[in-house]
Amino acid sequence: MTWQLRRAFPADIDSIMHIETSVFDTDAWSKDTMMGELSSEMCWYVVAFRPETPDSIEAYAGLHAPHGSATADIQTIAVAPESRRGGLGRAIVRTLINEAVKRGATEVFLEVRADNPGAENLYRSLGFQQIAMRKGYYQPGNVDALVMRLTPARRKPAFTATDNHSSHAQHEARGEASVGGELSSEAEES
Ligand SMILES: CC(C)(COP(=O)(O)OP(=O)(O)OC[C@H]1O[C@@H](n2cnc3c(N)ncnc32)[C@H](O)[C@@H]1OP(=O)(O)O)[C@@H](O)C(=O)NCCC(=O)NCCS
Repeated sequence: MTWQLRRAFPADIDSIMHIETSVFDTDAWSKDTMMGELSSEMCWYVVAFRPETPDSIEAYAGLHAPHGSATADIQTIAVAPESRRGGLGRAIVRTLINEAVKRGATEVFLEVRADNPGAENLYRSLGFQQIAMRKGYYQPGNVDALVMRLTPARRKPAFTATDNHSSHAQHEARGEASVGGELSSEAEES
């Protein structure tokens, strides 16, 4: 399965909210909150789609990473149920980490519900480690939040901004979608 990622913009709000409200039942963000994220210079959101259906958004995720700040936060991620377990979530999180590093972050943080082992596994598989727990953070339900941190290794991007629109072959590595300039990367599952 192949997906492409691109930066998300306010015009994507309806597609994103469609997934948001169907995936997160009790704790979905409001449209205003999501619009604030998409509009903020301190944030960086991406959406994923299949190359043959670019208008059908199948996943989104976002980062809060003010330029020059040493820390960044993964704000949210959601993959539509029919697109899960194909490597898309991991590719998106890697893309967010790359952007955080590009913006100067040396630590990336996130919170995940303690009753969400799938997401926790995803983050652990990328090197995030639990550093704290916030008891009863998620309401209603009184569900704890695991606070996780990654100290990303600084490494040279696999390809540069000028390569971004070159042949797909260069973008095949699953989850190795490095970003530079406007994002045009691809997540692929063979
Ligand atoms: C969590 C989520 C983003 C994962 O997306 P995905 O595209 O299915 O993830 P991937 O296919 O890249 O999976 C990467 C790894 O995550 C882990 N993982 C993902 N889903 C899992 C599940 N249901 N159970 C156990 N592990 C899971 C596995 O370690 C997996 O690696 P593997 O396939 O090699 O075993 C997706 O399930 C989702 O949108 N869930 C609802 C929203 C949500 O919970 N967001 C996270 C908020 S913190």
